[in-house]
Amino acid sequence: MLKGLILSGGKGTRLRPITYTSAKQLIPIANKPVLFYGIEALVECGIKEIGIVVGHTKDEVMESAGDGSKWGVRFTYIYQPEPLGLAHAVMISEDFIKDSPFVMYLGDNLILGGIKSLVEEFKRSNANSFILLAKVKDPRQFGVAELKNGKVIRLEEKPREPKSDLALVGVYIFDKNIFKAVKEIKPSWRNELEITDAIQWLVSHGYDVRPHIVKGWWKDTGKLEDLLEANRMVLDSFEVEVVNKGKIDSSSDVQFKVLIEEEAEIKNSIIRGPAIIGKRTKVINSYIGPFTSVHDDVLIENCEIEHSIILSGSRILNIPGRITDSLIGKNVSITSTEEKSPKAHKFLLGDHSKVVIK
Ligand code: G1P
Repeated sequence: MLKGLILSGGKGTRLRPITYTSAKQLIPIANKPVLFYGIEALVECGIKEIGIVVGHTKDEVMESAGDGSKWGVRFTYIYQPEPLGLAHAVMISEDFIKDSPFVMYLGDNLILGGIKSLVEEFKRSNANSFILLAKVKDPRQFGVAELKNGKVIRLEEKPREPKSDLALVGVYIFDKNIFKAVKEIKPSWRNELEITDAIQWLVSHGYDVRPHIVKGWWKDTGKLEDLLEANRMVLDSFEVEVVNKGKIDSSSDVQFKVLIEEEAEIKNSIIRGPAIIGKRTKVINSYIGPFTSVHDDVLIENCEIEHSIILSGSRILNIPGRITDSLIGKNVSITSTEEKSPKAHKFLLGDHSKVVIK
């Protein structure tokens, strides 16, 4: 029986300060945690037993994903106290995986269209591993594969001088031989046991590792631009026009792929989709532009926002100029002052916050 292994640890340094208080895998894309897209991709393949490797954000991840019953499957949480690498995560999951082949899915990756056909193909094959590859602009940020006559000949993690533009996508299928590989490799320069090195070990020892080029859309959401792009892609894949489960008053104009959740209120505002407005959120005298996800219990008044992700409980009031390309955390307050002088900006920002003003 094929099992699933989702990796939901790591520090998320490129998304600070959001990741100081929240797991990167729980950042919502179209108001749903990134992690849930991975879970759903595995569930869609008929996988019933899923291990989730968690790190310092384990409580939050466990609370949010639960025991799997939401999806009719069973989760086993595997604790990785230190982020010692993806291959290390595999190593500590052996007791859970046992002899089964398994799909490993990095919890911050998103593949539109799922992986069902690939998993079916793996089941029919007698390969030891399937790896997914995608052409990227800057391969230096990824594991990179070199192919010859359709075969993997070499893999390298974050190479300075990439031999190809084919990045390793964060979805892999392995049989039990990967457990031999992860025990043989040594930590990399970043002191992690790299899954890329473990796959290279399989290739060098004659195991059958087959490459699959991803044709559809894939993103590793570890950086702000990628998160915003993922949000854009998912919102754009909404097939519906306006779905209104909340209230839209008669002076508002809501158009094109917009989902208004329960008890949300739109007053005297324009909403141009693709966009999603979360539960109990109020949008008053404002413009919400395309590719914007506003989570639950947010208040937006006298503002213009587009191409952004706003997390729950935030208040954004009376901001001159348009807010764009932004990720705004939970319970954030952005307001403007009524005071006449001094004419100044006032900030209370956490470490690693980023503010751009023009
Ligand atoms: C990890 C892997 C890398 C892969 C990438 C995909 O990188 O090490 O080989 O290309 O995921 O998302 P990391 O997120 O650890 O930088």
